[in-house]
Formats: sequence, C-alpha cells, structure tokens
Amino acid sequence: MEINRFQGRSLAVIGDFSLEERLYLFKKTTELKKILSKKKGEESEAFRINNGDFGVYEVFLESSTRTKESFKNAAEFHRVKISSLDAGASSINKKESYADTFNTLTGYDNSVFIVRSKLEGVCRWLEINGKMYARRNGLNVSPSFINAGDGKHEHPTQELLDEFTFLERLGNNRDSIHIALIGDLFHGRTVHSKVQGLQIFNKVQVDLIAPTPLSLPDYYIREMEQLGYKVRIFESIEAYLNQNTIADIWYFTRPQLERMGDDILKSADFLRDKITFKREYIEKLPQETTFYHPLPRHKEHPTIPSFLDTTDLNGWEEQSANGKLIRIILLGLVAGKLGSDFKPPSKPPEEITKSFIEDIPIDENRPVKRYTEGINPVSNGIVIDHICRGDNRRDIRDHTARIINVMKLFGKGGEWITASREDEKMMKGIIFRPEREELSPSEINKLSAIAPGATLNIIKKSRVVKKLRLHMPPKVYNLDSISCSNPDCISHPSHCENVPPEFINTAGNTLRCAYCEKEHTFKEIWK
Ligand code: NCD
Repeated sequence: MEINRFQGRSLAVIGDFSLEERLYLFKKTTELKKILSKKKGEESEAFRINNGDFGVYEVFLESSTRTKESFKNAAEFHRVKISSLDAGASSINKKESYADTFNTLTGYDNSVFIVRSKLEGVCRWLEINGKMYARRNGLNVSPSFINAGDGKHEHPTQELLDEFTFLERLGNNRDSIHIALIGDLFHGRTVHSKVQGLQIFNKVQVDLIAPTPLSLPDYYIREMEQLGYKVRIFESIEAYLNQNTIADIWYFTRPQLERMGDDILKSADFLRDKITFKREYIEKLPQETTFYHPLPRHKEHPTIPSFLDTTDLNGWEEQSANGKLIRIILLGLVAGKLGSDFKPPSKPPEEITKSFIEDIPIDENRPVKRYTEGINPVSNGIVIDHICRGDNRRDIRDHTARIINVMKLFGKGGEWITASREDEKMMKGIIFRPEREELSPSEINKLSAIAPGATLNIIKKSRVVKKLRLHMPPKVYNLDSISCSNPDCISHPSHCENVPPEFINTAGNTLRCAYCEKEHTFKEIWK
C-alpha cells in the first residue's frame, strides 16, 4: 500500500509543514466546515478515520483547555481510540525518561501523540526516537508527535488555526496582512510560531506592542526582518494608537504570569495596563478591525475586556471554534486518511554543500614559511593558526583554552595571541604542538566546528606539508563535548534525557539547536 506524504509525520514546529501543505490543510478544513455547517452527515464520512483501533494519545504536562479538548473532540469525530496520560500519576514522576514513556505507549498501538510540555524541543526528539523505536520493532509507520505547546518555544497547531482564521477574515486573499501582536510576546509561544507562520502572506507588516520586559526576543525580530516583514515596535496600546498606521487584525496574548520571575511579577499591574484594551480606544480603531486571542483570558484582568464580547471586534470565538476543525484535518492527514490527492510542487535542485575543509595547495616555489616557537623552529607537529581572527584578546585567549581542552591538545608546545601578518590591527590565536601526530579525520571535523576560520598546518622536517582551512560544518553532532545552553531544552544535560545534542549551521553562521532552536555562536556550544 502506498503511504501518503502526511502519514506518520510529526509537527514539532510550524515550519515542519511546507507552505503548500498548510494551504492544502486549510482547503480541506474549509470543505469540512461547509459540510458540517450544512449538517451533511454522510459527506463528512469521507473525512473520518473510522477505526476504533487507531490510537490517539494526549500527554499534557502543562494545563490546557482548548488544545486538549479540541484534539479530544477532533479524535471523537474520527471515531478512534482516545487516551490521555494522567501526568500527575505517571512514571514521569518516578524519573522515567520521555523516550521510555512514549516507547511504552507506542507499544500499545498508539499512532499519534499530542504533547504539551514545559521542556522545549520535546516533539523533535520524540520524532527521532519514535523512528528508531519503529525500526527496532518492525512498525511500518512511525508514530506522529504533535506539539501542543513546548515551553515558550512554539505552538504550531494554534498557528495553523490562527492562519486559517486570518485567511477566512481576509476572504482567502494571501496578498498581504497587517497585524498587531499585543501582550506577552516574550513568553507567548503562539506568537513565536507566527514568525515562520505568517509567511503564507506575500507582504507582512507586523506591529509588536509590549512593554520591554514582555517584548519579543531579538532573534525572532531579526528572523522576521530577514523574511522581509515590515516590523515596528511600540511600548503600549496607547502609544500605538497615537500614530496613524493601525492594523485591522489585533492578536492579543495573555501575560503568562506562571512563567515569570518575581522581579517582573512585582510590576504585573503596570505591565498589564500597557497591553489592556480600554473603552476609550474604540473610536481610534480602523473600520472592520477584528480582535483575536488564543485564549484563555484572565478572569480578573482580561486584556480584552468582556464588554467587547458582544461587539464586531470579537473574532476570538470563531477562531477558537476553528481549532477543532483544523485538528480534525491534521489528525486525518497524519493518520493517512486524508492527503493522498496532495500534489507537492516540484522541488528546486538541491544545493551542493561546499566542503567545510579546504585543502590549501602548498606552492613548492614559494619561500618556505617556517613556524617558530620562540626561537626554535617547529620541525614536526601541528600548528593551528588564525584562531578567532579579529576578536578581542580576552575572547581569543578564552577560546584558545577551550580548543585545547576539547581537542585534548595537552602536552608539549605553546599557544599565544599575536597580530595577523596581513593586518596588524587584527589579533589571532595560535596553538603550536611540536611532535604531535597528525589529527584523524574525525578530529579535524571536530576542530572545524570549534575553530571555524582557523588553519591547520601539518609540519614535517620544518616545512608545512599540508594546510587545511577550516569552515563551520553544516551540522555539528555526534560529539560528547557539545550541549545546548538553553536550560529548558530537552537536550540540556540537566534533564538526563540522553538526547544527542545537534546543531544546524544556519545561513548566518550561527548554530541552531535541532530541538529547541536556540541560536548559538560556535563558541557557545561547548561544555
Ligand atoms: C496558549 C498556550 O498554551 O500557549 N493557549 C492555547 O493553547 N490556546 C496561550 C496561553 O496559555 O496564554
């Protein structure tokens, strides 16, 4: 039987589904919405998994109403087996690992897991682990893991329903969107998923409204700008309304008090005031403005006050109802019930990755460059040159020490900081290791990750016989000396989940954790 491209897929971040795949999901959602609104029972049958043995398992390790219940109701629509882990009484509390817990549940014929957790990047790890489990146990299709919110990282299914709702509001026109994001942009994972999510619109203008302690982290702002979004920043709704270009789509989020430290909590009232809508603001809104909110609202301090419920501003109720429909279609897709008619666009040819280890030819006719250590020439051994070229002395010194530790370059030789020959103002580090044997290929790979930009010189009989220029590898993994610096990441060593750390080299030469997506410089990933 042919497996469709959605079957067994996981959704850890919104970018896991391509633009075309999301549009297909929205098309199916619209079809189902029409059928259900006309109460055409027989037509909705084509959308149902209709298999009492197909297991959908909810694992919510943080509180939830909408996400959990809409998935449950969506699974009920499909007439499948629905289970839910009693997180408070599960063996996770006996320090069982995520891998063991989910492998056990997969073994009980469960195929789709809906997971909400405090830790970030959990579904990415479970997806990898689930594939290994499936291989070991002869399953044809790996289990799917759907991220129902991981810490302050992402909330991709909320993003799907938000996008679908905005498209409905804009009459399915994807030309442009002007949206204001208001509230706790720092902790709000539904906002973080918007960075990639809003790409379904050709032109994006985003106004960020939050007092500084709740503002959107810089790396998300940078990413939006790189994607070509027009981004503006405001401290409060009041300041926003004091200028003339006002969005007609307002997306509110709740101050996530439960994630805040005591320092911020002390000023909670002050912060809330900046992002709470007031009656006198109404007249400043453009016509046909619609308010959205992933919900819940705080019953004592709602940022969208309840007197607005009965006005035309209320878009959040429709938005919330769309959640169940989107999740019905998503379950249908990953179960392989829907999606076989999806035609993926033809793929652009893959770029060939340039080798990250460059062999610099040695010109036999050029005067011999001799490395000397003090007054003695290095006759045999290795010299790592151009370390952290252009950095300040202190950073070069610290990183050189790190290289020696990680690469275990202990023993005879020396290291120092010196001015670059080509540019006197540029400093660089050098490590000399006379009598040190050549490095193995895997050591050279590791050196490229810790000292990109450096050169490795192999010296024999006082001559440089081989010179390699090292660049950052496309992926840094399979090394025991690396770890993600985000304490909330599933791969952080403090959680003892035995997740192998992995970093992807992004275009900007930063290393993004494959799980929580935190960006690091090449100096920051070493234990
Ligand atoms: C959000 C969440 O959990 O991230 N809620 C939701 O899923 N609808 C927002 C929140 O908790 O404030």
